[in-house]
Amino acid sequence: MKITIIGSGYVGLVTGACFAEVGHEVICLDNDTRKIKALRNGQIPIYEPGLEQLVQRNVSAHRLSFTGSIEEGVDNSEVIFIAVPTPAQVDGSVDLTYIERVAREMASVLKEYRVIVDKSTVPVKTGEKVADTIRRYGQAEVEFDVVSNPEFLREGCAFADLMKPDRIVIGSNSERALTIMKRVYEPFMAPIMVTDINSAELIKHAANSFLALKISYINALSAICEASGADVEKVAEGIGADKRIGRSFLNAGLGYGGSCFPKDVAAFISISEQIGEPFPLLREVQRINQYQRERFINRLRDTLWILKEKRIAVWGLTFKPDTDDVRSSVAVDLVNDLIREGAHVTAYDPKGNERVQELNLCPGVHLAGSALDAVRDAETLVLATEWPDFAAIDLAEVYRRMHTPIVFDGRNLFDPNTMRDLGFQYYSIGRLPTKGNSNGQLRRLANIDLGISPKYTWRPRHNGVTQGSR
Ligand code: UGA
Repeated sequence: MKITIIGSGYVGLVTGACFAEVGHEVICLDNDTRKIKALRNGQIPIYEPGLEQLVQRNVSAHRLSFTGSIEEGVDNSEVIFIAVPTPAQVDGSVDLTYIERVAREMASVLKEYRVIVDKSTVPVKTGEKVADTIRRYGQAEVEFDVVSNPEFLREGCAFADLMKPDRIVIGSNSERALTIMKRVYEPFMAPIMVTDINSAELIKHAANSFLALKISYINALSAICEASGADVEKVAEGIGADKRIGRSFLNAGLGYGGSCFPKDVAAFISISEQIGEPFPLLREVQRINQYQRERFINRLRDTLWILKEKRIAVWGLTFKPDTDDVRSSVAVDLVNDLIREGAHVTAYDPKGNERVQELNLCPGVHLAGSALDAVRDAETLVLATEWPDFAAIDLAEVYRRMHTPIVFDGRNLFDPNTMRDLGFQYYSIGRLPTKGNSNGQLRRLANIDLGISPKYTWRPRHNGVTQGSR
């Protein structure tokens, strides 16, 4: 089938490449001529595992092409997807100006029947407005249908999410459009849910808000675990084993970030208020998310006393691993919080350094070339994003390089007992090391066998938490 995707940002590009991969002929369109030029030269503007090869393969097979002309896209495709940004406004409501502009531009070049599919995340009832706009600006006799088809892919595993989706939601009020949409998705062999347009639009905001709620729920529990000596991971396992709850999205940490959850929760609050049915539960979700980072910094302050002039290494800048996306990243906010308090922050991220520099997101931060460089002479290491690279690092070398081996793990990446046995003063979210010396050998390895100069004399405290003194 011939498909055009308007908007070659994250969702548009990945979706276009996956449609081409299953055999459709896809045109990816964007009004940013530099982006189109770069894509034509094989330069992919974002990092997503596997995307570069996917694009190359499908461009070579002549199934994927790029254009800046909306007329070319609309003339040559049966189905037109809209995948343009829907950013948040200051009050949390959604800025729909890009969607409205695309609807007007499409109307002016629409010559025969097309299915117009909204893939961008939009407030309920946007489909109706898109249809009204096309009718208002287009030729009266041209037929078209508007469909809602929300996207559920996650950055970092977008290819897998798109090729093997849990479900495909198609919101349509037209049998003709539905038949065409089913042909688009037939190759994916995934369950298709058909709804009306309003329900499909609502599903997207409801899904993201529910996932954010799950994260805030476990984060609120992590505070209770810390106060009561329980282990949040065991609690998550215990409740997640109930199929009605499920274990995923119950990983306690510094809170959710990224270009979707913060924006979509705020949007859903605004939408619910606009339609006269406020959703205060979601305000609490936001509050817990903010408080989680504050709680973390308070604990850092409790340990280091004064943050001013402390040399703090931060691992991770992206909002999650396997992406170079630093939009609304909790890690970036954390770095800025620390800098505001006067700390000297050296940060490192496997893919995010360049973006942070380009966009000047953390003025005053020093960016290191590697994780080990970042910790040199640091008084504390803060882990803010759980990149697998950090899990695989030589922790004994980290210990050797640090001035004072204090680690604040904001994503529960490391094992508390291993960290304690290696000699670190270790803090994580909602977890404590088990009492007693579970593996004294590791500590000996770190201090003696690997030749670590003993900065500290480590003495177990009464409660089993190790503590050092110069
Ligand atoms: C999210 C949704 O998961 C996708 O289904 C949706 O399509 C997408 O938004 C979107 O609307 O476009 P994404 O933002 O890429 O995907 O990333 P997630 O994996 O959902 O993570 C979001 C944030 O939640 C990250 O900051 C992550 O660190 C945090 N998180 C996630 C937790 O703190 N704990 C968890 O257990 C899971």
